[in-house]
Amino acid sequence: MCGIVAAVAQRNVQKILLEGLRRLEYRGYDSAGMAVRNNQGELKRQRAVGKVQALADRLATDPLPGTSGIAHTRWATHGRPSEPNAHPHQSRERLAVVHNGIIENHEALRQELSEQGYVFESETDTEVIAHLLERESAAAGDLLTAFKKVVAGLDGAYALGVMAADAPDVVVGARKGSPLVVGVGSDEAFLASDPLALLQVTDRFIYLLEGDVVRLSAGGLIEIFDASGAVVDRPVQTFEHGDGSASKGNYRHYMLKEIHEQPAVIAAALEGRLGDRSVLVESFGPQAESLFKQVRQIHIVACGTSYHAGMVARYWLERYTDVPVQVEVASEYRYRRVVVPEGTLFVTLSQSGETADTMAALRFAMQQDNYLGSLGICNVPGSSLVREADLSLMTQAGPEIGVASTKAFTTQLTALMLFTLALGRVRGMPEDEQATLVEELRRLPSLCSEVLGLDRPIEAMSTAFAEKHHALFLGRGAHFPIAQEGALKLKEISYIHAEAYPAGELKHGPLALVDSEMPVISVAPNDELLDKLKSNLQEVKARGGVLYVFADENVGLSEADGITVLHLPHIHEALAPILYTLPLQLLSYHVAVLKGTDVDQPRNLAKSVTVE
Ligand code: G6P
Repeated sequence: MCGIVAAVAQRNVQKILLEGLRRLEYRGYDSAGMAVRNNQGELKRQRAVGKVQALADRLATDPLPGTSGIAHTRWATHGRPSEPNAHPHQSRERLAVVHNGIIENHEALRQELSEQGYVFESETDTEVIAHLLERESAAAGDLLTAFKKVVAGLDGAYALGVMAADAPDVVVGARKGSPLVVGVGSDEAFLASDPLALLQVTDRFIYLLEGDVVRLSAGGLIEIFDASGAVVDRPVQTFEHGDGSASKGNYRHYMLKEIHEQPAVIAAALEGRLGDRSVLVESFGPQAESLFKQVRQIHIVACGTSYHAGMVARYWLERYTDVPVQVEVASEYRYRRVVVPEGTLFVTLSQSGETADTMAALRFAMQQDNYLGSLGICNVPGSSLVREADLSLMTQAGPEIGVASTKAFTTQLTALMLFTLALGRVRGMPEDEQATLVEELRRLPSLCSEVLGLDRPIEAMSTAFAEKHHALFLGRGAHFPIAQEGALKLKEISYIHAEAYPAGELKHGPLALVDSEMPVISVAPNDELLDKLKSNLQEVKARGGVLYVFADENVGLSEADGITVLHLPHIHEALAPILYTLPLQLLSYHVAVLKGTDVDQPRNLAKSVTVE
């Protein structure tokens, strides 16, 4: 999604803003822009369509010197990607604004402002904010008062950064429904939609709350006002992940780096959470044990890859805890009447903790009767999800930059297995069974490393896909959602149409599609459904289908005409979904590289979808 960076500094801010935009580019990337107030008290702006580099090229010939500024990377929602639609938007060259989110009442406001003589240059919802500010500043006399008045009249979701020609060294911001953090410098202050943008200048952050308005001024002065307008003190938190994750290191793409980080981050997700023979329930928070004891039913709600993690968890939770589980995508859940049996725990999963539909689902759920409480499984400390859920478990994946989620997914699965075992423990899951899975979890990072060693053979396999237009992924049981995740990865980054089916459904339709032009990919761990899966694979082969199978070393599947097999080390069937995700990630990655697509920033997609 769009990204915001803003600064009030002791130095020229152009470089800081540009570097911030580069670090935010993974969120959204169809255009970028910057406005800076120069020494003569003028607002100067540059915008460019395309990647941040296009803006950098413009700034190289036509720089924007000044000590305060705002900048933005855009992912189009209202109006196509074009220079006039790129942020910052201005009014009468006196006010400039950058915005993430959607202003729902923009049409009425646009009409009102047009009637008052304001001329619109863009098709965006954001431009109304610039003109409203211009109108209100004349009456209010100062930027903050005008801004508060404008914000009170906006419906929808926003994170905003604004500045005015006649307010030297001041940037004002607000957050409602879209994330915004303040970076605390020494005698300098910054704003951004993600702390990653500012790790170049500070590791100290204030996470603004819903409804907060902030004013940054010269000398690093930071004033925060809550939704009621009262001055508030928000804690300054130190960012703990370090800055290394914002660089690709020796890898060609962030995605490849993040795939290879999985053994380490899965180990981090387990750290401090495993006892000798069971999971430490306290790692879910002090109230976890008493809450888990009351759980009679679970609703899991999430989007995208996180939803697939939830689908896998349903198999685990029902198998090991006897608790009935429903899993649903957040955009559906939030708009229907949901029947909530007494004793239901609401579980949300989100890498970013800011996905608009997921957050709306959490808030909707917390207004229903009967939910016991909520558990948020999340990768971003301080995010909205972590703050608003009753219990939270951090996945510890570290910042994920590639838009296609990889390490965030496998650490979510790891966290969900921990949750299964914690719930199982308080609900009397046999101790031996707990101990076996805890032991297997400990082996998981090294098994993942072993599987990543298959990179070369998977790269060789990928050549068979680059010219294809369709692919079918098959799995059974908890590997059906893994097949779905495999198909999602392939379509996201290589733009090959891919579908996933539970292998047993093949005969009810998709078998009609099978021919030599549509590769069929299957994961075949050594589980109780293996024989069933083998028959399904025969059905494909008998119809001239070309099969690629990732199989347990002991399953007795070998290469034959029309079947390519890659063997994975043996793993306990419960944890196989985590391990079998890795080859599917590598396959998609190599196909995308062969096709020459933009692996880390696939077209039309965004890392964190903070609009509905
Ligand atoms: C976007 C991303 C996906 C992600 C989904 C949910 O669509 O491109 O990779 O799975 O949002 O994001 P979340 O942060 O809630 O897990």
